[in-house]
Amino acid sequence: MKQNTVATLAAMKARGEKISQLTCYDYSTARIMDEAGINTILVGDSLGMTMQGYPDTLPVTVDEMIIYGRSVARACKNTFVVLDMPFMSYQVSPEQALTNAGRMMKEAMVDCVKLEGGKAVCPQIRAITNAGIPVCAHVGMTPQSHHTYGGFKVQGKGEEGARRVLEDALAVQEAGAFAVVLECVPPKLAALITKKLDIITIGIGAGSGCDGQVLVCQDMLGIGDSGYLPKFVKTFAQVGDVMKEAFQTYDRQVKASVFPTARESYVKSDCSDDILARLDREYRPEEPLKICSVL
Ligand code: KIV
Repeated sequence: MKQNTVATLAAMKARGEKISQLTCYDYSTARIMDEAGINTILVGDSLGMTMQGYPDTLPVTVDEMIIYGRSVARACKNTFVVLDMPFMSYQVSPEQALTNAGRMMKEAMVDCVKLEGGKAVCPQIRAITNAGIPVCAHVGMTPQSHHTYGGFKVQGKGEEGARRVLEDALAVQEAGAFAVVLECVPPKLAALITKKLDIITIGIGAGSGCDGQVLVCQDMLGIGDSGYLPKFVKTFAQVGDVMKEAFQTYDRQVKASVFPTARESYVKSDCSDDILARLDREYRPEEPLKICSVL
């Protein structure tokens, strides 16, 4: 059994211990996060941007989520893995949501699924949790609906906005979600929601009052799109600079024949001079190579 499960994460909330979550989309990075003791990984549909270069998450498909999810799940001995349900894989009906959630659990072998929305998706949450699949909900700013907000905007402003986010959070808890992501919500509102809920809250751009925090891996490592970084991002290491320097050094060394040296070659297994001379004699082309032209 993993060290991080739905039960241990709930116990962390009960003890007042903070929960760490990062997004991740590949085996190698997931292995490092697992070794680092990160409690949970979100294979977010943000991979549409970070891995696929789309402007938003909308084009991502269930098949793609399964491929990325499975790669991450294989690496995680102890980290709990959450797999995002992509746009239009659950909105149509509870039946559609259950079918896709079931496929994602079976084929990606993750620990739970996540979907965006509050009251509107409660029938979907009920259908999925009734089938024994844990659900993490996501309220506040839900990126799959950015066209309805006219951008990626802070939600929960003013009394009406705050009430809407709180009611959505209470509704997803009631429907059976074991956790909820609060995205781009004012910090005092996020803290109040965290106090009101029995289930775990994971914040992103929601202040420090949530039970846990999530950041997009590329953003926190400084390898994201440097053109745009939301206010809530903290870059913990400039890995992008380290990578660029390594790529430039490699490029220079290959071009100057500095790499590889004998140390990076199979020198001990090399052919004797006799063999090389024989091969050289036997395989000398009799005629110069003809270059074939179609024209
Ligand atoms: O897709 C994602 O990465 C997310 C996080 C930003 C919470 O939903």
